[in-house]
Amino acid sequence: MRAQRRPRRGMFEAPFKVRNHVERILGLPWVRFTFLVAGVRFGRRFRIFGAPILQRVANSEILFGDGLELRSTPRSNPLAPRSPCVFATREAGAVIRVGVDCGFSGAAIVAASRIEIGDRVMVGSNATIVDTDFHPLSPLARRTHARPVARPVRIEDDVFIGTQAMILKGVTVGRGAVVGAGAVVTRDVPPFTIVAGNPARVVGEVEPDVPSPAS
Ligand SMILES: CC(C)(COP(=O)(O)OP(=O)(O)OC[C@H]1O[C@@H](n2cnc3c(N)ncnc32)[C@H](O)[C@@H]1OP(=O)(O)O)[C@@H](O)C(=O)NCCC(=O)NCCS
Repeated sequence: MRAQRRPRRGMFEAPFKVRNHVERILGLPWVRFTFLVAGVRFGRRFRIFGAPILQRVANSEILFGDGLELRSTPRSNPLAPRSPCVFATREAGAVIRVGVDCGFSGAAIVAASRIEIGDRVMVGSNATIVDTDFHPLSPLARRTHARPVARPVRIEDDVFIGTQAMILKGVTVGRGAVVGAGAVVTRDVPPFTIVAGNPARVVGEVEPDVPSPAS
């Protein structure tokens, strides 16, 4: 199936958007510099509001597909992202891979092993996706700075992640699923389901109104 672009609203639809887009365009050189210094590339058709925080350790990868939309400034989203978007790898060999036409608002994506995000995924304001606990669970291991457990995370195509949700290590969020605002997701989410709460549980289903990639 040919990728369908999300329709975007014009910048003159509302006066505040003019300011946002002026800031976006004026900030573009700094955004490009940020990506250059981090050794990270973005594709074509991007819209990047403010510089994200990119922390890529040596011999790890952060890859973005075309149509990337990043909102890192408080004015760039009505939910006022409280920090710039963060994409960080913590270990050599770690990978963050983002498909085409994905959008993130003040979200933090941190990988010690692998975080794969499919196409047309929307990640709400201040949401977090991590594949590691950052610190070992045993006190002794913490004292000796041993490596914590890391388990890959996969977010499949057409997933919508609500504001302030947290996706934790080892989780696969199935195609077309919706993660509710503030959900803490610790287990896999079946495709086309809605999950919410802490820990996240299935609270509904989504009509699978797009053809599967195989058809
Ligand atoms: C998850 C969500 C999409 C579900 O919407 P919905 O399908 O209309 O679901 P409903 O409102 O009918 O709720 C269904 C059940 O889930 C519960 N629920 C819904 N959202 C919840 C949430 N975020 N946390 C905890 N429980 C939630 C409801 O209380 C209800 O429970 P009940 O059946 O026991 O009464 C919506 O509630 C939500 O969280 N939207 C936020 C999206 C967002 O963050 N957008 C910003 C992007 S920047």
